Amino acid sequence: MSILLAPSILAADFYNLQPQFESVEAAGATHMHLDVMDGVFVPQITFGMPVIKSIRNHTSLNLDCHLMVQDPDRYVHDFVQAGADILSIHLEAAKDPGHVITKIHEEGCRAGLALNPGTPIEAAEPYLKDLDLLVVMSVNPGFGGQRFIPSTITKLREARRIVSNINPKVRIEVDGGIKPDNVATVMQAGADVIVAGSAIFAGDVRANTEKMLGRIREFEEKQETAS
Ligand code: DX5
Ligand code: ZN
Repeated sequence: MSILLAPSILAADFYNLQPQFESVEAAGATHMHLDVMDGVFVPQITFGMPVIKSIRNHTSLNLDCHLMVQDPDRYVHDFVQAGADILSIHLEAAKDPGHVITKIHEEGCRAGLALNPGTPIEAAEPYLKDLDLLVVMSVNPGFGGQRFIPSTITKLREARRIVSNINPKVRIEVDGGIKPDNVATVMQAGADVIVAGSAIFAGDVRANTEKMLGRIREFEEKQETAS
């Protein structure tokens, strides 16, 4: 399974999304990470279904939607209809995460479960057999541009161990504070989907995406030579 890059538009210029999407795609990325915040689960409010629907009408990039929304079961249908390819909910935000994961699948979408930095990885174990994606937050959700929390490395290693034992098909996404200089460390620890917001959208989007993808390919080549 090749490692994926999912640039987060949280750090983008929202007046000007089209050229930024085109730059990310031209650089070779296949996914876009869309951070939905409701002002309840996290303090900020970002965007919702109408924006995702418009994006869907204009891009073939895979839309990886990260719902930082309280009681996400209320919105599963709407986000899938809007065009999500992967819908991740927070374990801490759902009364019955297993039920929401089932609902996401019934709607015909891939399901992800995100964990805050303070939530132990074991809390995700009961849901792993039904998941497509496990999102390990490496900052407290709510804002872009924060510093990577170093204890995430241990958590990613644990996540990789548990995923290998229970359901090796689950991808492990790391989200928050990822830059060209720490991406190799998180991949080494077990992440295979890399979210990056400010590292991509501050400055030259195409060059930043190429740089990050370059680091990912370098890592994969080293792994191949080592095996
Ligand atoms: C944080 C969001 C992240 C954020 C990442 O709540 O879930 O996806 O956009 O941004 P950077 O890469 O700037 O930390
Ligand atoms: Zn996110």
